[in-house]
Amino acid sequence: MSNVKKLTVSSFRKMKERGEKIAVLTAYDAPTAALADACGVEMLLVGDSVANAVLGYRNTLPLTLAESLHHCAAVRRGAPEAFVIGDMPFMTYQADINDALINAARYLKEVGANAVKIEGGAAMAPVVERMTASGIPVMGHIGLLPQKLLTSGGYKIAGKTEKEAEALIKDAKQLEEAGAFCIILECIPAEVSKQITAAVSIPTIGIGAGEHCDGQVQVVTDILGLSGDFTPKHAKRYANLHEAIHKAFTQYVKDVKKAKFPGKENSF
Ligand code: KIV
Repeated sequence: MSNVKKLTVSSFRKMKERGEKIAVLTAYDAPTAALADACGVEMLLVGDSVANAVLGYRNTLPLTLAESLHHCAAVRRGAPEAFVIGDMPFMTYQADINDALINAARYLKEVGANAVKIEGGAAMAPVVERMTASGIPVMGHIGLLPQKLLTSGGYKIAGKTEKEAEALIKDAKQLEEAGAFCIILECIPAEVSKQITAAVSIPTIGIGAGEHCDGQVQVVTDILGLSGDFTPKHAKRYANLHEAIHKAFTQYVKDVKKAKFPGKENSF
């Protein structure tokens, strides 16, 4: 079963106005997307985190547009009515504004996404403006920017000084002015996120940005405990699938070795 009401960009703005929190999760494949949608997740973000969460890359930088579109299509097939956002990979929107537009449009035209996400604040406002003016809804993303890993020197909390906090508020306002329908705030102190959330009328969706955001997003593999022992500070484990899968695989191997599987009930 899908979300009962089909959600649009204006639904999310109304949710902010009503003070109703927005639940967002990343999704990378059809069965997970179907489950998330059936459980009431209101936006499915096909994050570029698919690179490290699923595809075995060390970070998000190597992800290609083709890989991202491939996963976006799977999510759309799993959740035909959900609000799906394609997260544009590194260097598919930064180099040239026309290329950015053409690449963004592929998410809508080829895989049926509802929107795209790009990283960056004020510097990306012209790109957001062109996309929005062309009919492509854009989710902004400020704070910790994983695609800037090599220039920032690591994954660091953003907005810790007054100057940085002011710059983030300015970033958010410019993204709103450019037409972004919502903004991800990643790893920003809760008090700064509160100010950003109050400064804009579009929803803020936090990850490691405290309780004052209009919604929350999490990386699905983190909340399912799929990645072994490591859980980032901003995530909460709602399940331990790593342990459950390890147990299941171990038992399967034992059963095959001891000829306990297949049983009569699995044979024809
Ligand atoms: O790719 C991703 O998972 C993200 C997070 C902010 C949710 O962009």
